[in-house]
Amino acid sequence: MIDRAWAARLDDEDPLAPFVERFCLPADEPPPIYFDGNSLGPQPLAAAAAVRAELDRWGSRLIRGWNERWLALVDAAADRVAQVVGADANAVVVGDSTTVCLHKAASAALQSCPQRPDVVTDRGNFPTDLYVLQAVADGAGGRLRMVAAAPGVDEVAAAVDDRVGLVALSHVDFRTGALLDLRAITDVTRRAGALSLWDLSHSAGVVPVGLDDAGVDLAVGCTYKYLNGGPGAPAYLYGRPGLADGLRTPIPGWFGHVDPFAMESTYRPAPGIDRFRAGTPPILSIAALLPGLALVAEAGVAAIRAKSVALTGLAISLADAWLAPLDVAVVTPRDPDRRGGHVALRCPNARVVSALLVEEHGVIGDAREPDILRLGLSPLHLRFVDVHDGMRRIADALARDDVSARTIDPGPAP
Ligand SMILES: Cc1ncc(COP(=O)(O)O)c(C=O)c1O
Repeated sequence: MIDRAWAARLDDEDPLAPFVERFCLPADEPPPIYFDGNSLGPQPLAAAAAVRAELDRWGSRLIRGWNERWLALVDAAADRVAQVVGADANAVVVGDSTTVCLHKAASAALQSCPQRPDVVTDRGNFPTDLYVLQAVADGAGGRLRMVAAAPGVDEVAAAVDDRVGLVALSHVDFRTGALLDLRAITDVTRRAGALSLWDLSHSAGVVPVGLDDAGVDLAVGCTYKYLNGGPGAPAYLYGRPGLADGLRTPIPGWFGHVDPFAMESTYRPAPGIDRFRAGTPPILSIAALLPGLALVAEAGVAAIRAKSVALTGLAISLADAWLAPLDVAVVTPRDPDRRGGHVALRCPNARVVSALLVEEHGVIGDAREPDILRLGLSPLHLRFVDVHDGMRRIADALARDDVSARTIDPGPAP
């Protein structure tokens, strides 16, 4: 029997419990329960001072700030991201959005193998990934081939033939939370002669990734979810050491030039992954991102994952106990090895329910079409009692309201 006292005991034993103090969270009474750290992580307390310091530097040092600090900050962010995703420090660049990074990586991959212009992805992939991959396949004169959502290794193997140059998937399905077998799919892709490209937006910082170990070719991801980098925080692009030297970026910008400040009139790519830099990096955003990355590094991804598995396991047990009788079913895989950091519930009228939960019950989660209520359980700021209380509030709301008859305008999904 799971009760609040039991959840509180889990908090007492939780080595990551003190991390909640390192975040700025709303002071509302009663405090909202934040189940959306998988969409926008909360603000690290240190972020404001870090941004303030660079604003002050801009004020006092003007353009000298670049050499004195800002160029080094960009490298520091790439190093930190590399550490989180298990990559060589020289294999990652930070900047642009995930969408742009994905476009650069996918275009470069297909450009490197013109005789293999097709791309394999899955139907459940995030919309921006589908749009970009379609455009890149079109541009190469190839086809975007879709396999079923969250495919296993056999489904991917069956889809890759000698016209496929790229297999591009998300590590965690953004709707269901299903975790794909990155290592096995990467292996099978390589053996079939194609390149692999992973979107780590929903796994970096909550699931160990191990890009170098797994032999992944290319990866991208955002930093505003489990890495707590802030709204619109810069994305990252990984290229396997040794591979990037043979790739051409579709955006040959001056920051990716071998010698940007020589101002040459002809583009010469920087060695390795640095050629994928495009324009001037967003220093204030990078300053805001570094404290989030430092918190993940301090906690360690292995410890974060252990807590994440326990949090999602608790939410699933409580959903079975309290929500199943209310016609709400767990969609996320029950096997912890097959799920990421969020829990998806199939819930009639999910968008309206989600809006009601925010406005009337102080539970901030989100909904995804057609009927998924998503609960992101970000381990660095959530307590086990928060999961208990949030699930209790959801059950009470669903029991009390005839939610399927409510017509509240859910507004645009964030
Ligand atoms: C898997 C995945 N890829 C990409 C994106 C968005 O990319 P961008 O940073 O370009 O907005 C998201 C946003 O939630 C996402 O979940």
